[in-house]
Amino acid sequence: MPDALIEISPYQIADNPFKLIGKDWMLIAAGELDSFNMMTASWGAVGELWNKRVAICFVRPQRYTFQFMERAAVYTLNFFDESYRPALDLCGNRSGRDVDKAKETGLTAIAGTGGAVHFAQARLVLECRKLYAQDIDPNHFIDQTIPPQIYPQRDFHRMYVGEIVRCLAKP
Ligand SMILES: Cc1cc2nc3c(=O)[nH]c(=O)nc-3n(C[C@H](O)[C@H](O)[C@H](O)COP(=O)(O)O)c2cc1C
Repeated sequence: MPDALIEISPYQIADNPFKLIGKDWMLIAAGELDSFNMMTASWGAVGELWNKRVAICFVRPQRYTFQFMERAAVYTLNFFDESYRPALDLCGNRSGRDVDKAKETGLTAIAGTGGAVHFAQARLVLECRKLYAQDIDPNHFIDQTIPPQIYPQRDFHRMYVGEIVRCLAKP
């Protein structure tokens, strides 16, 4: 079992956010120990909004994870070392409807204090409290070339803005 994670302040996160989210990827996890799901995501952001430290992520409605995100008050964003790339590949290419991703990847779910699972193997976990959710609206694109490229099926992401209520990191 990996070392227990310790709580840090969001201001202690030293990672470059472009690399952290866009290149390293994250697992969005929602649900509790007896019923949860996770999926890989590489689109998102972290920063300051409404005087809070927030993380923003985007989930298409057909993802199994979407149902868990809708039910959850709290969800987690989990970041891993490069050695977990195969696990993130699996979680980004298979659905929790068809496979037990925790079993397939060997990732160990841990119950967080806020009621959402995170993973023991993560090197950084952002526990987020849902503040705001809104579907991407095709009418609001200033650059109208994006919708046909990114949403040919019109499966517009739901954007979740979450307050980072707890950051956990490897000691
Ligand atoms: C690198 C990578 C990044 C991804 N980023 C997103 C994302 O930001 N939002 C999204 O809805 N799906 C994203 N996906 C797709 C989901 O991870 C994928 O459809 C997954 O199988 C959904 O699993 P689920 O049905 O168990 O929720 C990404 C996949 C990969 C491989």
